[in-house]
Amino acid sequence: MNIMNLYRTLARPVLFQCDPEWTHHTTLQWGGKFGRTAVGRGILHALYEFEDERLAIEVAGLKFPNPVCLPGGFDKSGHAVEAIAAVGYGSVEVGSVSALPSAGNPVRPRLFRVPDDEAMMVYYGVPNDGAQVVAQRLEKTRLPVPLGINIVETNTGREVTEDALIDELTEALRILKPRANFMTVNMNCPNSAGGVSPLDKPAVLRRLLESFAATGPMPPLFLKIRLVPTPANIDAVLAVTDDFPFVKGFMPSVGAKKPYVGIKTPQAELDRMPGSLSGPFAGPAALECIRAWYARIDRKRYVVVSAGGINTPERAYERVRAGASLLQVYGAMIYNGPGIVRHIKQGLCALLERDGYAHVVDAVGAEVRGEPMRGKSPDGKAINGEALPAHR
Ligand SMILES: Cc1cc2nc3c(=O)[nH]c(=O)nc-3n(C[C@H](O)[C@H](O)[C@H](O)COP(=O)(O)O)c2cc1C
Repeated sequence: MNIMNLYRTLARPVLFQCDPEWTHHTTLQWGGKFGRTAVGRGILHALYEFEDERLAIEVAGLKFPNPVCLPGGFDKSGHAVEAIAAVGYGSVEVGSVSALPSAGNPVRPRLFRVPDDEAMMVYYGVPNDGAQVVAQRLEKTRLPVPLGINIVETNTGREVTEDALIDELTEALRILKPRANFMTVNMNCPNSAGGVSPLDKPAVLRRLLESFAATGPMPPLFLKIRLVPTPANIDAVLAVTDDFPFVKGFMPSVGAKKPYVGIKTPQAELDRMPGSLSGPFAGPAALECIRAWYARIDRKRYVVVSAGGINTPERAYERVRAGASLLQVYGAMIYNGPGIVRHIKQGLCALLERDGYAHVVDAVGAEVRGEPMRGKSPDGKAINGEALPAHR
């Protein structure tokens, strides 16, 4: 039995008896302790590591040993970065971190498993220790993979002015950038209804990036952006970011909205949980989003990073073919254990080999170039060496 099946059959039933937030917290605590010792890292490495040169990829001048990365939201305050790197993720993104510490949303529970769909309902409200504490915690950290830090405005429950938002994010950036190989701005705003962000307005985004530029040399910056991916919306963002060379890419999503499509769990059950839902059901929308962004970006200048429902090698490969240079995998780790990272990496290698790619970077955007894919796509389309339709 492989390590992923062991997790699913032995560890998961026990862990899933416990409160989700407690499990999350305890995993980070133990992961932190384990990952800080050479013996602990050695054990994790032995259990989970899989390295293959074909998966190494350079993005924004940074070398990622593989494209399967951990997004913001798991290690919010940087407690267990060493352990995360040791299980084989290609990069670790700490956060979201805000300028000031925040306890997150006051209601409990605020994290829910939706097991029939292997999904998570999240109503955390970005709790984190704040920029100063996180910067201090990461001061001596040296990882074998790029370390990203994802910043967000502090959750106060009160709407902030655009000026205050820009000042706050700039303060978080200023404190944290010396620790980061790359930074991400989580543009979803916890203080505004429905996650609508003032940063979705191009003029506000421009002022934010000007404010960042004024802090001095910038690490590569990614924008985690939740925007309806129409050509006009995307072009409006690009018209701003084109003027800021430190913006290296986008982590776009659409954000799942009720009524959720393709979900088995009864709607009435989901209605009892506050928050936003993520999981494999969101995969098709996330794929479309990547297609939409990849079609419009200057591919020499930017990359797109895909998150949302990546739980199999086939799905990972499909995102790469659609244009994603990096992939982010979180929810699938909750349901399959850290072994999912190796599983996806091994499967990616097999799929690259099947389709004749020497290297993962060669497959990025293959779909747009009309290069054929042999075998089944995850959703059963495009089989037997036929090219997928090119998406504009
Ligand atoms: C429990 C949980 C907490 C999250 N917290 C954050 C966060 O603080 N900042 C952020 O940018 N994204 C956060 N996310 C979103 C993830 O980074 C990711 O975009 C999303 O889960 C989709 O990927 P997945 O389907 O692989 O889980 C969170 C997700 C989950 C499940």
